[in-house]
Parts: sequence; structure tokens; C-alpha cells
Amino acid sequence: MFRSPRRGAAVPEATFLELRGLTKHFAVPRPLLARVVSRAPPAVVRAVESVTLTLRAGETLGVVGESGCGKTTLGRLLVGLEVPSKGEIRLRGQLLEGGAHQRPRALQRRIQMVFQDPYASLDPRWRVRDIITEPVVGELSAAARRERAVQLLRQVGLSEADLEKHPHQFSGGQRQRLAIARTLCAEPELVVCDEPTSALDVSVQAQVLNLLKETQARLGLSLVFISHDLAVVSHVSTSVAVMYLGRVVESAPRAVLFSAPAHPYTRALLETIPDVRRPGRRRAAIPGEVPSALAPPPGCAFHPRCPLAEPRCRVERPELRPLGDGTLVACHVVGERAPAEPGHGPDEVSET
Ligand SMILES: Nc1ncnc2c1ncn2[C@@H]1O[C@H](COP(=O)(O)OP(=O)(O)OP(=O)(O)O)[C@@H](O)[C@H]1O
Ligand code: SF4
Ligand SMILES: [Mg+2]
Repeated sequence: MFRSPRRGAAVPEATFLELRGLTKHFAVPRPLLARVVSRAPPAVVRAVESVTLTLRAGETLGVVGESGCGKTTLGRLLVGLEVPSKGEIRLRGQLLEGGAHQRPRALQRRIQMVFQDPYASLDPRWRVRDIITEPVVGELSAAARRERAVQLLRQVGLSEADLEKHPHQFSGGQRQRLAIARTLCAEPELVVCDEPTSALDVSVQAQVLNLLKETQARLGLSLVFISHDLAVVSHVSTSVAVMYLGRVVESAPRAVLFSAPAHPYTRALLETIPDVRRPGRRRAAIPGEVPSALAPPPGCAFHPRCPLAEPRCRVERPELRPLGDGTLVACHVVGERAPAEPGHGPDEVSET
């Protein structure tokens, strides 16, 4: 049992973060002519559809999938930047209702987000000391804020000399360190990292990932780590959820997912990762394109690209079901574990 320091209630550790049927639909207006001629209602993008997941305290849930599958929307729902159309988010059993503005400030602070683009997420007019202590404005004196800023800068590998600088004086990797410092200032329990390294040079990606991992271990943070890159997800995650067109198609403990992927889409994603053990091997691209989220295929949305598709896959949507090894998979065909092919595991991200 874990006793929450903030809430005082004893709840099972497994319920640190719980998503139940979490759904987000966006209404997209049709072009003016179509609206006038056909009086068509707005189209609906099913960005996130019935997502049910759990995360244990101190662990990292990797969320992976191709562009447009709903990863960012899922992250934005967690921090309250989007309001769910349906479903529940619970943190240590407490229901998070509505968006961030409807959540009490103390609750808002418990979940923070590091965004993909460190150039866009820091206000260029502000000085570093004000940027990174923004979460405690009005709570600490100027001197205490300065002291806090210095501590935070040191924690992320920057120095007191950086306090008076502006964001343009930093590289992309350093800016992401500043964004992480600002996040830590709020003393969150859960940090949602949305592709935090994908805008960075390869040479600094591993440094930022390692900073996140070290910080997590030191502070006991829980992370939701969003990436289209399975190699990166493998490096940081305890468990992984694979999304396709808004739905989770497979979730599993990291080691299980990488050694014995179950869903045909997960297997196809793994085939796209470079393998240092077989340098001459050509990496397979997933055939076909991701269908439009405005008109997902019926039945199993992956069926137009799936090598195992059967007639029923075109009409019946598979529900997630357990395979007995911690895996949940949404597939009609996969029932028994496919033998793992050697070389399925991704390269390790190099430590720098
Ligand atoms: N505010 C919005 N209004 C309408 N549609 C939206 C909105 N935000 C996202 N979408 C749509 O929802 C779907 C999921 O988008 P999302 O950004 O969550 O995907 P993603 O997995 O993060 O993609 P990427 O890897 O490109 O960042 C997409 O079809 C996107 O166009
Ligand atoms: S349900 Fe059918 S189409 Fe979908 S992943 Fe499984 S085999 Fe492929
Ligand atoms: Mg995204």
C-alpha cells in the first residue's frame, strides 16, 4: 500500500494512474460549400477512443504509434489541456474532472508536461529565472524563487550563470533542460513527456533521456513517455502501450513487448527499428498509409495493412484481451504467442 503524502489516503500502489474508456473526439467543420449544399454536420475525428490503461507509481508508461494516432491528445487529456469526451482519469484513485482550469491548483501541479518543441514552449521574452520558477509565482519571495531557480538549474546540468539569460542564448538540448527544470519546479508526481527529444540533434537526445531517467529515479516520479520511436521508448519505459488510430492495440510490460510482440502492428513497428546485430539487414517499412482519422476502416482499423487479416477483421472490431503474460492485445487472430524472431529488440540508445 502507498500512503499519498498529499491526500493522506491509503490506496493500492497499482492505482497511481488509471484511465478508463478515455475518449476524445474533435468536431471538424466541413468546407463552407459542403455545409451549404448538403447541410452536413461537422465531421468527427476520433483522436482518442476508449483508452483503458494503468500506471504504477515510479514507473514509466511508453506510448508509441505513428503520426496522428492520438498520442499527443492522450497526453493533453492527462494534463487537462483537453477535456475528455467520455471516460475517466484517476490519479491515486481521485477522479480528475474537466480540464486544467477546473482542477484545483494543487491537483493541476501534480501532473506536468514536457513538450516536443523546446523552441516554442519557452517564452523568448522571459529570463531563465522567471521561466523555470513560473509554477511557484505568488508562493515564494523573490529571494526564495532565485534560490529555487539555482537549485533547479544545477539539477538539470545548467548553472547559476544562466539565471539572467533568455531562451535564445541556449541550444535545443539546453532549452529542453530548462523545460524540465520548469516542470520539476511544480514538484509533480506525474510528468507527461511528449516526444521530448525528437526536435533535438541525435547527439543530445541521449543526454536529455538520461537526465529524465536520473531525475525520475531521484524524485520517484512517474512518467508517461510519448514517442513515435520504439527504440527511445524501449530505453525509458517500464510498460508500453501501442496506439493505432486512437485506440490502444497492445499494452505489455516492456520486456514482454520487445521479446514477444503480439499484435501484427506492433510486430510491424518493431521491424522498422534498425538492428546493430544485423547491420546488413534491410528494415521493412509498414505497408500502406495510416488511414484518415476522419474515416477509420470498419472492424479492425489495421485490416487494410495487416498481413494476417481475415474476412471477420473487416467487420468486427477486436476488443483488448489478456494473453496471460501481462499483454493485452486487440486482435482476432493472435491468441498464442508467436515465437520471437531474433533481432526484434531495438538498439540501445547510446549513453553520452
Ligand atoms: N484540436 C484538434 N482539432 C481537430 N483535430 C485534432 C485536434 N488535435 C488533434 N487532432 C486530430 O486528432 C488526431 C490525433 O492527433 P495527435 O496530435 O494526438 O496525434 P499524434 O499521435 O500526437 O501525432 P504526431 O506523432 O504527428 O504528433 C489527428 O488526426 C489530428 O489531426
Ligand atoms: S484483428 Fe485481423 S486485421 Fe486486425 S490486427 Fe488482428 S489479424 Fe490483423
Ligand atoms: Mg504528437
